[in-house]
Amino acid sequence: MLSTIEKLDLKGKNVFLRVDFNVPIKDGVVQDDTRITEALKTIRYILDNGGKLAIGAHFGRPKGQRDMKYSLKPVVEHINAKGYFKAKLVDDCIGEKVSNALKAYYPSEALILENLRFYEGEEKNDPAFTEALAAPFEVYINDAFGVSHRKHASVYGIAGIAAEKAAGFLIEKEVKYFDKITRDPDRPFAAILGGAKVSDKIGVINALLDKADFILVGGAMAYTFLKVLGHKVGSSRVEESAEEIVQGIIKKAGGGRLFLP
Ligand code: 3PG
Repeated sequence: MLSTIEKLDLKGKNVFLRVDFNVPIKDGVVQDDTRITEALKTIRYILDNGGKLAIGAHFGRPKGQRDMKYSLKPVVEHINAKGYFKAKLVDDCIGEKVSNALKAYYPSEALILENLRFYEGEEKNDPAFTEALAAPFEVYINDAFGVSHRKHASVYGIAGIAAEKAAGFLIEKEVKYFDKITRDPDRPFAAILGGAKVSDKIGVINALLDKADFILVGGAMAYTFLKVLGHKVGSSRVEESAEEIVQGIIKKAGGGRLFLP
């Protein structure tokens, strides 16, 4: 059973909210802010209910290095320019800068902590990093739907140690929707998948093959399928180590259920 945010008393508490603000950015400008607007309901709920909000997010894959090319600054600027809520960038995601910002917290303003992936402990789900991340907070909320398959410190590790925790409204909505389509879908039921890596999604594809009538594979992932089926893919990205997995998927799907570009 999913614990939901409305069951928590947030007033005056330090709240860490994990979101997925990994949005496309070109020349310092956000190109598509859907992931930001999808999290607004949860952000506003926490602010309206008196939580002292610090938002944790990642951007890109800086591989544990403090590489300012991957700073969340453009995201913070975008949020303030759009007037979605008042956002203040904290130049770190752990340590003194975070605790000082919480001490100086201005009501109704959300702190956005700098890229979690500036620390390698994030992706390694390192216990010391997880402890440092969790330390200033009394409540943990996850609304990072696009990252919830990752066994990272801010997603998985912190959920294991937080005393009070809940899913945000976006996660709640997606889980409700998944529950319906995996238990009692309207038919015909077609699943559409994209992305680059088959190996990241093999569990999902296998589960969907048992439930969906049709699977449509698009995005870069499709090239691995096309190559296995003997098509020429030029220099397109192919995940060679997943070719055997793809053969298994094609066999399991049988005829007429799997569609490729
Ligand atoms: C995404 O863009 O798919 C999510 O933000 C997760 O990012 P990742 O694939 O770098 O973990």
